[in-house]
Amino acid sequence: MNPTKNDLPEKIRKKSVELLNARLADVIDLQTQMKQAHWNIKGPHFIGLHKLFDEINETVEEYVDMIAERAVQLGGIAKGTSRVVANCSNLPEYPLDITAGEDHVDAVSTALAAFGKEVRAAIDQAEEIKDADTMDLFTEVSRGIDQWLWFVEAHLQGAETAAEEPPSKPVRVAKR
Ligand SMILES: [Fe+2]
Repeated sequence: MNPTKNDLPEKIRKKSVELLNARLADVIDLQTQMKQAHWNIKGPHFIGLHKLFDEINETVEEYVDMIAERAVQLGGIAKGTSRVVANCSNLPEYPLDITAGEDHVDAVSTALAAFGKEVRAAIDQAEEIKDADTMDLFTEVSRGIDQWLWFVEAHLQGAETAAEEPPSKPVRVAKR
């Protein structure tokens, strides 16, 4: 650990750095997966989804920076190289053989939900460690990921709801 005048006890800072690095691997993995989707999406909803996946990538990049820099602020070393990420990420690998819009929507929502679950657990872990600022950071990330998950899943849910709805009955006009 690097020396710092931060008054959080070193024991707490060490545990937080470990937790931050664990989620850093996940969030970098998530960012590359959003780019993978952005590049390879095809189909009638191409432009909307292509842009949406890049917007998610941009927000996720901010989370990468927030998580990495907090680890360093606490006196730790941020571990964010591709090799560390490949070894440490808890996210499932993004499917490399899909092109259709709905397959990417499904894969992106799976990735967001998997990361969301990890981050929600990290909120509780930061609380146990007694690092309120790390807890707050993960809460902010979690809220953002939930919002993006909603944006992405709405593409699938609209189609399902429309298919499930019975056809509307024709309006009968009373005869005179
Ligand atoms: Fe691009």
